[in-house]
Amino acid sequence: MEFYITRSLRLLSLLLMLAGLGWFSAAAQTSPSHNPQLASKELNARVEALLKKMTLEEKIGQLVQYAAGYATGPNASNLKYDELAARGQVGSFLNVVGAEATNHYQHIAMEKSRLRIPILFGQDVIHGHRTTFPVPLAIAASWDPAAAELVARYGAVEARADGVPWVFSPMVDIARDPRWGRIIESSGEDPYLGSVLARAWVKGYQQDDLSKPDSVAVSVKHFVAYGAAIAGRDYNGADMSELTLRQVYLPPFHSAVDAGAATLMSAFNSINGVPATANPFTLTQILRKEWGFDGLVVSDWGAVSELINHSIGDGPKVARKALEAGVDMDMEGNLYGTVIAGQVRSGKIPESVVDEAVRRVLRVKFALGLFERPYTPEGPAYDATPERRAAARKVADETMVLLKNDPVEGVGPLLPLPAKAKKVALIGPLADNQRELLGAWAVTGDPKYVVTLRAALQERLGDRLLYAQGCDLLTGEDASILKHVDFEGAMAAGDHSPIPDDAKTIAEAVETAKKADVAILALGEPANWMEGEAASRATLGFTGVQQQLLEAVAATGKPVILVVLAGRPLELTWAAAHVPAILEAWSPGIEAGDAVADVLFGDVNPSGKLPSSFPRSVGQEPLYYAQLPTGRPAHGDLSHFPQNPAEKFVSRYMDQENSALFPFGWGLSYTRFSYGQPSVSRAEVPVEEVIASRSKPVVTVGVDVKNTGRVAGTEVVQLYIRNTAASVEQPVRELKGFARVTLAPGEQKHVEFPLGFDELNFYNAGLKPTVEPTTYKIWVGGSSLATAETSFQVVE
Ligand code: NOJ
Repeated sequence: MEFYITRSLRLLSLLLMLAGLGWFSAAAQTSPSHNPQLASKELNARVEALLKKMTLEEKIGQLVQYAAGYATGPNASNLKYDELAARGQVGSFLNVVGAEATNHYQHIAMEKSRLRIPILFGQDVIHGHRTTFPVPLAIAASWDPAAAELVARYGAVEARADGVPWVFSPMVDIARDPRWGRIIESSGEDPYLGSVLARAWVKGYQQDDLSKPDSVAVSVKHFVAYGAAIAGRDYNGADMSELTLRQVYLPPFHSAVDAGAATLMSAFNSINGVPATANPFTLTQILRKEWGFDGLVVSDWGAVSELINHSIGDGPKVARKALEAGVDMDMEGNLYGTVIAGQVRSGKIPESVVDEAVRRVLRVKFALGLFERPYTPEGPAYDATPERRAAARKVADETMVLLKNDPVEGVGPLLPLPAKAKKVALIGPLADNQRELLGAWAVTGDPKYVVTLRAALQERLGDRLLYAQGCDLLTGEDASILKHVDFEGAMAAGDHSPIPDDAKTIAEAVETAKKADVAILALGEPANWMEGEAASRATLGFTGVQQQLLEAVAATGKPVILVVLAGRPLELTWAAAHVPAILEAWSPGIEAGDAVADVLFGDVNPSGKLPSSFPRSVGQEPLYYAQLPTGRPAHGDLSHFPQNPAEKFVSRYMDQENSALFPFGWGLSYTRFSYGQPSVSRAEVPVEEVIASRSKPVVTVGVDVKNTGRVAGTEVVQLYIRNTAASVEQPVRELKGFARVTLAPGEQKHVEFPLGFDELNFYNAGLKPTVEPTTYKIWVGGSSLATAETSFQVVE
């Protein structure tokens, strides 16, 4: 009896909750939507008509996704996919790529299944599909939304040609800890930069029109706080205040939803003890009620069944929790497929909950035009055409960050290299490794298209180029790592056989360097083993014996240029102290060698800026510039600036600076830029006016930026604010505007940044975005260390 009452009460409260959400009202199907296409009356009428005809099994079929191709996660199911598709019990496949493979299943669905509902094919398209561009963290280093949009556009066109209308991208997780290997897929540490880029990715993929035959639906991931994994260990829980969640981790998702993102992916992690894949607060309250999202939510791979490991219930219970929280589709978990029907039949789950999830799946299928165009015509085989290469090179050129270029005695700055450079020694395990230069998560990219550094420099220098690999990325002792990472097919780790005698190969590299006038070292970490998913690190140095190689070559006294090829901020402390020139080149994709050469020889003036702080030691992590103030700040209140080592009783490390080795926003150029005194259009603004302004500016900050050097260059002009008197303490600096400005030598431009409620608001203790009377300090400059300062007041 007690059980009966409890159950009835539970059902009642669920019904009330659903009614509160509007799930039972007809209006809910066409309520104000984040994406007008998904809300269209005609589309929803088609959805309702189809839904009425569906059996419970067919409905649940729409809520499952299987990996019928290769695996990008553990324990791939191995079901009879043809039979399931013929019974209408596959809503979606992932990792089935290519016209032939997708058409195979689509023909079954369209010809054999009772209701002829097309299958939605999804795929990880992370930095291009067949054409591999630089990794997303590198793209963020361009600070160029147009670059992100371009990469997304190529990805969409190529994915669609391969039968894939749904991409699991962009990843918009804020990542403030490079121990977390997935920082590579992110736009780095900053919510403002991340939000601007999130919008650009969505636009590039979806083109504001899902029905276009070359648009794809995005899946914005991983909702939410996945990047805040405790200790940087992948899949670990996140624990944070709601304030931080709202102010730091949610904005890029909100931005992507506002841009019309058709789908989202729920994350593996828990947030404050509630798994993100069964989290009604984030998935229903915030996503659907506050943001009006009426697209589809797919779980991450196996994340529904992994709720059992999170210890929040058995299979049936966790499936129910996920579905009721708002996860519509179970990716490669097979739990919805096996346990939901029974629970609906026994009354534990109202069928209306299933119906709503099915609506969300069908809306996306209709919006993509899959019912009209279910098949993909066989096209010509992929080739990295000159046009594709040009796009990949243009983007890669913009992602390069010149970290250091100090003059060498008697030589001057090493970079750019003179075209007539005498003998150059190219050394390192990443100088000639096509697969690694492609970067992590290049699922359908093909290493054979990669131009390596060795190939590109050979082309320019001919026999003036000397080469030595020096060592491998890993040593024999690291071999255990290789065993763990053994993805099949396109994700294969590659054929790496660590060099048996490092000492010998390092000695050979030293001899090679001695014969040259300058040595270029191409070092980093193995992208396919130690970057991306399940690739957290507890240390952040170069892997294997690369550090020894670097030190041995530097000890020859030959000038050294270090090219870092990695998808995360590495610890470059020794290099920064001993190597005169350092270029952060990330994982640049198919045009790796050409793009690096463009910058080394000065054909391209580097313009990238760090989207992520580079630490001095791993112990500083998580390290980010937008720290909250303390009562005992080091170095005044700018604790991200280099500090006075003699300071005591302040918030600092005794054995290390607080500051980053290379801070957020940092990046040098072959020219110099000077900043004038910034000005504000108004010294005072009434608080009501700011609150009413929303996206409209109330104040404009202007600054003159001049190229004072001898070559043309592009500067990323950055604007930071600080709210000096808020009811909830605010970061010491926050990025709130940026612009890429190209200047000829001697040229000056006036750059303006509009500021309104969107830029100035913060979450108060009541968790409402607000603006209060205060003084805003403003800095404008070329990094988060900007010193050109002004201010304005918000008054009663
Ligand atoms: C797991 C990853 O977390 C996610 O980003 C990816 O989209 C899926 N696997 C599918 O491969």
